[in-house]
Amino acid sequence: MAETFIESSFCEEDTQFEEPLRPRSLADFKGQDSVSERLAVMIEAAKQRNEPLGHCLFSGPPGLGKTTLANILAKEMGTSVIVTSGPVIDKAGDLAGLLTNLQDGDILFIDEIHQLNRVIEEYLYPAMEDFSLDLLIDSGPNARSVKVNLNRFTLAGATTRMGQLTGPLRSRFAFSCRLEYYAPKILANIVKRTAKILNIDIDQEGADEIAKRSRGTPRIANNLLRWVRDFAQIKADNRIDSGVACRALQMLSIDELGLDELDKKILKIIIDHYQGGPVGINTISVAVGEEPSTIEDVVEPYLIGIGFLKRTPRGRMATQLAYRHLGKF
Ligand SMILES: Nc1ncnc2c1ncn2[C@@H]1O[C@H](COP(=O)(O)OP(=O)(O)O)[C@@H](O)[C@H]1O
Ligand SMILES: [Mg+2]
Repeated sequence: MAETFIESSFCEEDTQFEEPLRPRSLADFKGQDSVSERLAVMIEAAKQRNEPLGHCLFSGPPGLGKTTLANILAKEMGTSVIVTSGPVIDKAGDLAGLLTNLQDGDILFIDEIHQLNRVIEEYLYPAMEDFSLDLLIDSGPNARSVKVNLNRFTLAGATTRMGQLTGPLRSRFAFSCRLEYYAPKILANIVKRTAKILNIDIDQEGADEIAKRSRGTPRIANNLLRWVRDFAQIKADNRIDSGVACRALQMLSIDELGLDELDKKILKIIIDHYQGGPVGINTISVAVGEEPSTIEDVVEPYLIGIGFLKRTPRGRMATQLAYRHLGKF
């Protein structure tokens, strides 16, 4: 159990560690070229017309750069970003407070926007469409609605669950994109960039080794680098090469595809206990002791991406590739 805890912590967010590592400009934000190119055009056009940027929606698994992009939008537009998240806004008044305080051109970033309460979501529609808010004042027979004009702002939304967003909300975004897992080469560059910022001595092969095992995810790459740095400090004279990175990552039981104990446990349950599936997500969740949402948002997308797992209407199934990787033939 303790082991699983260490493993999954590499997907987790540590704001203090991450903040200095965030790219600040689109030019610095590598690895999602089609997204960057489209955003660059939108930003330039909005700036020329002296208008706020259209509302933007970013989806994709954790750690791929959604929050980073929202911050970059503000930097590129020369405005401020106000950060909140879906579950935090639980009263219409909270949303009204946020919206009425926005300055012209500000970015309002709502993380996990799919968790926004439906009633509050409806207040957001007129705000997004024509920068106005219908506030209900008083209750009972005295209740009346007052229209409040807002400054022009940009809503940036992030979600790990595009499918859970309502159609009306989704359709109000001018720009919507899904961030993809990063190629190992790009991740190696991100590792080297982070190493430079943190003053860590690492060679190309060391960076490649970490990149290869980072499940296509910059956050994991940075977190693994942090662990390998500790390892190198104690065991390898502060220098990271491929041998040092390999030994450090082996100590965490992260294999050459980046699979950790939890991934392997899930695949083994499906293969060994259920003849390869299909197995329902709740059964898997109980068997490994993780929340279904963690499994669905963090673990599965990568396993599906590398072709190890299939989602079917009757449950999850392990593929031939997974059998082979785990030596089950
Ligand atoms: N394209 C990128 N280039 C360099 N670092 C990145 C990139 N995308 C994300 N990161 C790094 O990964 C970490 C997680 O990114 P973040 O934007 O918080 O992900 P998300 O909001 O999608 O979970 C940040 O520390 C950030 O510096
Ligand atoms: Mg985020």
